[in-house]
Amino acid sequence: MTATPPHLTVVDHPLVQHKLTIMRDKGTSTAVFRQLLREISQLLAYEVTRNLPMTTMRIETPMQEMDAPTLDGKKLALISILRAGNGLLDGVLELIPSARVGFVGLYRDEETLQPVQYYFKVPEAMEDRLVIAVDPMLATGNSSVAAIDLLKEAGATNIIFLCLLASPEGVATMKAAHPDVPIVTAALDESLNEKGYIIPGLGDAGDRMFGTK
Ligand code: URA
Repeated sequence: MTATPPHLTVVDHPLVQHKLTIMRDKGTSTAVFRQLLREISQLLAYEVTRNLPMTTMRIETPMQEMDAPTLDGKKLALISILRAGNGLLDGVLELIPSARVGFVGLYRDEETLQPVQYYFKVPEAMEDRLVIAVDPMLATGNSSVAAIDLLKEAGATNIIFLCLLASPEGVATMKAAHPDVPIVTAALDESLNEKGYIIPGLGDAGDRMFGTK
């Protein structure tokens, strides 16, 4: 029997925390921010794939034959919640190059803070896959919940949500709507401001990684 994963995992590894601090600093350039996001996403991917099923294969080392551990051919889908999700996607994909990739396009209405869908394209056979949905910022949780709704409508039953920063409000919203979806994050911040930004946060993740305003 496999243990139920915790609903929230904060990856408190020193390398993750160090890189995150540099990313939070407003003086950090776009180029450095992007590079650190790539590095940190690989460290987070390490955590998120911790419970992938394993099997063994018979191989021959230069010394002798052995049954060596290998991934059990688990089908994976990485789903980027656009546009900031792409910053996390690149690094995770480097680590899991055979994963299928999908995109959910949602933007946040700045008045209502509610998500509006503009794009949806995911791999087939979502019901057979471990689905890792990536979005750097779990803020109000509204767009994350909407994205997970869409993934479940497409058949996904085994979903993990991977983000860089989470707010307590976002975690609570996700837990209420999707208690079956574990969240893995580099930090749980203090709060949200009135515009739905994470405090202390790192600002607008998309703007920071793409150099827009
Ligand atoms: N999206 C961001 O990019 N930053 C926040 O703080 C909240 C939502």
